[in-house]
Amino acid sequence: MVRIALASFLFAQAALGAVLQKRAVAYYNPTAAGGSMLDNAGSGGGEPLNVIISGLSSPAVLTDSGALNFAEAIGFDTECLGVHLGDPQSANLGDGNGWVNQTVELRESYPVGGTCLESLIGGNHFRIYRQNGPTANSGALFLAVSKEEDESENHNIVADGYDIGRNDLVSNAVGTTSHNGVTYHTVAQNISGLLAAGADGVNHGIATDGIVTLLTVTIA
Ligand SMILES: *[C@@H]1O[C@H](CO)[C@@H](O)[C@H](O)[C@H]1NC(C)=O
Ligand SMILES: *[C@@H]1O[C@H](CO)[C@@H](O)[C@H](O)[C@H]1NC(C)=O
Repeated sequence: MVRIALASFLFAQAALGAVLQKRAVAYYNPTAAGGSMLDNAGSGGGEPLNVIISGLSSPAVLTDSGALNFAEAIGFDTECLGVHLGDPQSANLGDGNGWVNQTVELRESYPVGGTCLESLIGGNHFRIYRQNGPTANSGALFLAVSKEEDESENHNIVADGYDIGRNDLVSNAVGTTSHNGVTYHTVAQNISGLLAAGADGVNHGIATDGIVTLLTVTIA
């Protein structure tokens, strides 16, 4: 009896260990280890990392091609004809990698003209940074999301453009979406206390409400 109980206890421990190893964590707080929730826009200020795609999402979503497919499912695309407007920005996610350039920058895709139209008339866009350094390897994707003005305004951020960009992206993402035969179920959760509210250190001096939305994206 005792032996059977012990055996099943050990089995349960091993199974729990396997589950914990596989699932890891949603994200690590970058500021806990010298990082920042603002990226470096090269202007003396930074853009808020206002959306996180959880490390507990389906692993395929967190790869470069998987993130791109998910972005396409929620109305974004790679930049118009590969023309890159503006320099890459960098972020320090407190994972031991230090300041690293964005992985990719995606812009809102319009039904006619795709991202070329967005480049002309402005719209929503985001940069992606991956938290995968040796000391905080969550695999989470940190997004700097903002809504921009049109080309004549040199892609400046609209008033309240960080909060608006985040809310637009999140409302496109939540629920069921699909692209290229992949179906996603996405749930959102707001986090306060990670990103400071206000305009301190924020690029263009545009204040935010300090909310970061955590998206957990599961492939059906
Ligand atoms: C980021 O990209 C810029 C421009 O391509 C490059 O000059 C810089 O060295 C890169 N920084 C890092 C940390 O890779
Ligand atoms: C998160 O906060 C934003 C801004 O206040 C709000 O519009 C949104 O409904 C909230 N989302 C969730 C899931 O609580």
